[in-house]
Amino acid sequence: MTLAAQARRAATAFAELHGSAPRGVWSAPGRVNLIGEHTDYNDGFVLPFALPQRTAVAAAPRTDGVLSVATLGEDGALRRADPVAIADLEPGAVTGWAAYPAGVAWVLRGEGVAGGADLVVAGDVPVGAGLSSSHALECAVALALLGLAGVPEDRPLIARWVQRAENDFVGAPTGLLDQTASLLCTEAHALFLDVRTGETEQVPFDAAAHGLEVLVVDTRAHHSNTDGGYAARRAGCERAAELLGVPALRDVGVDGLTEALDQLPDDLRPLVRHVVTENDRVLHAVAALRAGSPADLGPLLEASHASLRDDYRVSVPELDVAVGSALAEGALGARMVGGGFGGSVIALVPAERRAAVEERVLANFTARGWAAPRTFPAVPSAGAGRDDRSPT
Ligand code: GLA
Repeated sequence: MTLAAQARRAATAFAELHGSAPRGVWSAPGRVNLIGEHTDYNDGFVLPFALPQRTAVAAAPRTDGVLSVATLGEDGALRRADPVAIADLEPGAVTGWAAYPAGVAWVLRGEGVAGGADLVVAGDVPVGAGLSSSHALECAVALALLGLAGVPEDRPLIARWVQRAENDFVGAPTGLLDQTASLLCTEAHALFLDVRTGETEQVPFDAAAHGLEVLVVDTRAHHSNTDGGYAARRAGCERAAELLGVPALRDVGVDGLTEALDQLPDDLRPLVRHVVTENDRVLHAVAALRAGSPADLGPLLEASHASLRDDYRVSVPELDVAVGSALAEGALGARMVGGGFGGSVIALVPAERRAAVEERVLANFTARGWAAPRTFPAVPSAGAGRDDRSPT
């Protein structure tokens, strides 16, 4: 569905539920990360782009300080979360999907934006697929609440606020990749972000002009950033940085890798090797895109997957089979995206090989008795924004 369609669904459902039109509709996209996985919380580099799939939030202010959220399911049914007084929000008070909007309201309350609101959510970002559906929801809610309050948008700051909602309210110790992608990506570009400095560069990425497509394979294997595996990797990286006497693993370059590994215990070496080589791969990927050679991303994607599988150990058999199937059918490269432990794979495929890749992935999943994966080609799309207003 297009951007306008999700906004319309949310606005229509809002009018049905509340008997009046919303004050505004804001939406935010899911993302894939071309490369740069588990580097963000190490102060490193990432290179995501926004998906066409988005989450829209139709919103109107309330005068009683209450946050009421309803979400429109794929079946057209509205599920309402229990309304909560924003003044009473505390971490742990709200669980499940409603914790995401509540977490954003909780953070904004601390920033002096505490007005109540009715929100109706509609979207088509696959949930639990490692495509950042939670951040799409949080970013759209943040823009909606700020928009209702008339607060001017400072996108990098909003990304930090959304991160705080995830970390301190929802309880997922995630980095800055997803929110920044959802808020700052632009159509036809990948976003090169240096997490330490906050510097960004919109890097043109037009795979189609080179006869290529980025195919997303949602393996439907469960993915969550709150299950403990993500936090354990993050803690390992922090311990390694401490032992090396650097602020973050970003400060170890490929040239200093061997020397750094020599100073570390066995269990931390693979983590550090992944982060350091992955940061380097991002820089090479950016150089390939700047040079107009997206085909050169192929080997980098493949190496990234091997590193995430063997060193960082966040892959699962479904991801490995999807990557292997894609490569066997002529993909130039493929890798898991996001936190791992399930979720999605991206494959860079010559357009004419796409159908064959999809067939092989499906056949290999069916042969193992796994649910059929969901596949779709992804083009870099627009970041978050207000939907019911023409761009100025
Ligand atoms: C999840 C987190 C991000 C990032 C990735 C791994 O998507 O939300 O902050 O750490 O995993 O790159």
